[in-house]
Amino acid sequence: MTRKWILGGLAALLLSPLALAEPSDREVQQAMKRDFRAKGQAGMERLEQDGVQRICTATSNKPPAELAKQLEADQMKSIVYPSGSLMGDWRNGAKIAWGGRGMQWHEDPKKPADGGCYNCHEISPQRTSAGTIGPSLRAFGKKRGNGMEMQRYVYGKIYNAKAYNLCSDMPRFGPTGSLTEQQIKDVTAYLLDPTSPVNK
Ligand code: HEC
Repeated sequence: MTRKWILGGLAALLLSPLALAEPSDREVQQAMKRDFRAKGQAGMERLEQDGVQRICTATSNKPPAELAKQLEADQMKSIVYPSGSLMGDWRNGAKIAWGGRGMQWHEDPKKPADGGCYNCHEISPQRTSAGTIGPSLRAFGKKRGNGMEMQRYVYGKIYNAKAYNLCSDMPRFGPTGSLTEQQIKDVTAYLLDPTSPVNK
C-alpha cells in the first residue's frame, strides 16, 4: 500500500510539469473554435484576431516599442473626428456608459448598443459598482480639463483605444461600429462636461 502511494506520488510529481504547461496559442484557438456556437449576430468571425491582436498575443502584450509606435499610428488613422465640438449630451452619455445592451447574439444589431464602460471603469459617484480592469475615471474633466485637445483625446480614446496603447484591453468602439459618432460624443460629454455628475 505505502509503496503504491510512493510510486503514485512519484508519477504525479514527474507528470505535473506536463499538466501545468500553458496551452499554445494554437491550442487555445482550436478549443475556442470547437466550443463556440455561432448564433444570431455573434458569428465565428468574432474568434478571428486581427493583425494587432495577434502581435499582442504573440508578445504577451509587450511588442517592441518601435513596432508598437508604428501600429498605434496606423490605428490613429482609423479615428474619424466630426467637425465642431466633440461634446454631445452627457445625459445620454450616462445611459450609454451605464448600459450593457448590444452585440449579444439575441439582440437586434440594428438597435443602438451601449458602451458597458462601468464593466471596467469607476466613473460617477452615483454608481458604486464598477469593474477595475481600467483606471478610475471619476472627476475626469475636473482633473484633466475639457478644452479641445482633451475632447479630441477622450473622443479618440473611446473611438479606438489601441491608437494610444496598442495592446489596450479596452474595446475599439468606433472601428467595430458598436458606438456611433453621436454616442461617442455623448460619452465624451459625460466624462468632460462640468455639469455632468462625473465632475461633481
Ligand atoms: C474591457 C474593459 C474596458 C471597457 C469596457 C472600457 N474601457 Fe476604458 N480603459 C480600459 C483600460 C484597461 C484602460 C487603461 C489602458 C489604456 O489606456 O488603454 C482604459 C482607459 C480609458 C481612458 C483613458 C484614461 C486616462 O487616464 O487617460 C478613457 C478616457 C476610457 N478608458 C474611457 C472609457 C469609456 C468611456 C468606456 C465606455 C464607452 C470604456 N473606457 C470602456 C478598459 C476598458
